Amino acid sequence: MQQIRLLLCCLILAAAAVCSSTLPPPESVNIGVVLSFRSIIGKVSKIAIQAAVADVNSDPTVLPRTKLLASLHDTNFSGFLGIIEVLRLMETQTVAVIGPQSSVTAHVLSFIANELRVPMLSFSATDPTLNSLQFPFFVMTSQSDLYQMAAVADIVEHYGWREVIAIYGDDDHGRNGISALGDQLAARRCRISFKAPLGTKATREEITDVLVQAAMGESRILLVHVPDYWGPMVFAVARYLGMMNPGYVWIATNWFSTILDTELDLAPEAVEDVQGVLTLRMHTPDSELKAEFVNRWANLTGGAMGLSAYGLYAYDTVWILARALDAFFAQGGNISFSEDSRFDYVFFMPARCLI
Ligand SMILES: *[C@@H]1O[C@H](CO)[C@@H](O)[C@H](O)[C@H]1NC(C)=O
Ligand SMILES: *[C@@H]1O[C@H](CO)[C@@H](O)[C@H](O)[C@H]1NC(C)=O
Ligand SMILES: *[C@@H]1O[C@H](CO)[C@@H](O)[C@H](O)[C@H]1NC(C)=O
Repeated sequence: MQQIRLLLCCLILAAAAVCSSTLPPPESVNIGVVLSFRSIIGKVSKIAIQAAVADVNSDPTVLPRTKLLASLHDTNFSGFLGIIEVLRLMETQTVAVIGPQSSVTAHVLSFIANELRVPMLSFSATDPTLNSLQFPFFVMTSQSDLYQMAAVADIVEHYGWREVIAIYGDDDHGRNGISALGDQLAARRCRISFKAPLGTKATREEITDVLVQAAMGESRILLVHVPDYWGPMVFAVARYLGMMNPGYVWIATNWFSTILDTELDLAPEAVEDVQGVLTLRMHTPDSELKAEFVNRWANLTGGAMGLSAYGLYAYDTVWILARALDAFFAQGGNISFSEDSRFDYVFFMPARCLI
């Protein structure tokens, strides 16, 4: 899998530049990183990416004559800032962008990445419809949600539950994930009996309304596929409504395992709320390199946070990019940038709107 991505990345870089065998590789290349630094995924990934850049730069076997310069940008939980930051990077001499963090932003930017031929590598935008055939310049460097939805459907089938209530955030990531779940369940002769979308910034009242409706349905199997920043509130409300009692089955997608892996000291009530919840995590095979990195993690963070699967994928994303650039330069690739007059238009508009 990793090799396929590497190849894909090479092809993209090859397409993006004019080839020549005479030029030496550049002394440095700029890569952009766009994340929400204080989010559960962002804070872990930022440290992992910085560690990876340092490791690439000190490893003589990869990009020996080229320094990777990463510029990190905080989107502060804003999809809009995510779009603007990536556009700004694509306008400057950036060979590739790591990000954006969210699938919603990735949908908007994939079109632009294609047009401007700047590869975008995201380890956290895992919406199954962000598919590389439509967007060759978008490379998903972790596992698509399709896989975890197939796993959920397998669990449901295995226990003979048949029907599932889907609670999800009503955005591209939530809807497309649930749509994949519907397909996976149908293939196993199971189904979603009730779809309960929640606003992208759901409040306690909204969650209560939706759970009360869900409690009236026939199924007692509930899947929760929501953003991590308000996801835990779903369990708090469910517990309040008595829906955490035996008789209910709660399955949470990997947003929840990410919180558990990252937050080392959860409040006791939060732990009470989630007893019995089943959650999924992206698989990362055990290896010596992984064990070494896990050991280093406490040093990198001062023990302030745990290492989630996203941290590992973020670390690997930098290496995928470094190896792709290395192979590209080894073939005599020449990266060049040209002024794109269409940008005048892109940046003209927001400026005018603000006035
Ligand atoms: C992030 O956004 C919030 C509003 O959503 C704002 O209050 C805060 O100052 C911002 N933080 C930074 C570091 O920009
Ligand atoms: C952590 O840092 C200390 C002091 O810099 C060092 O002695 C130790 O070997 C490091 N541990 C790991 C696992 O890197
Ligand atoms: C590399 O690309 C730039 C910009 O397209 C071009 O000016 C330059 O001649 C190319 N170098 C070689 C050796 O082809």
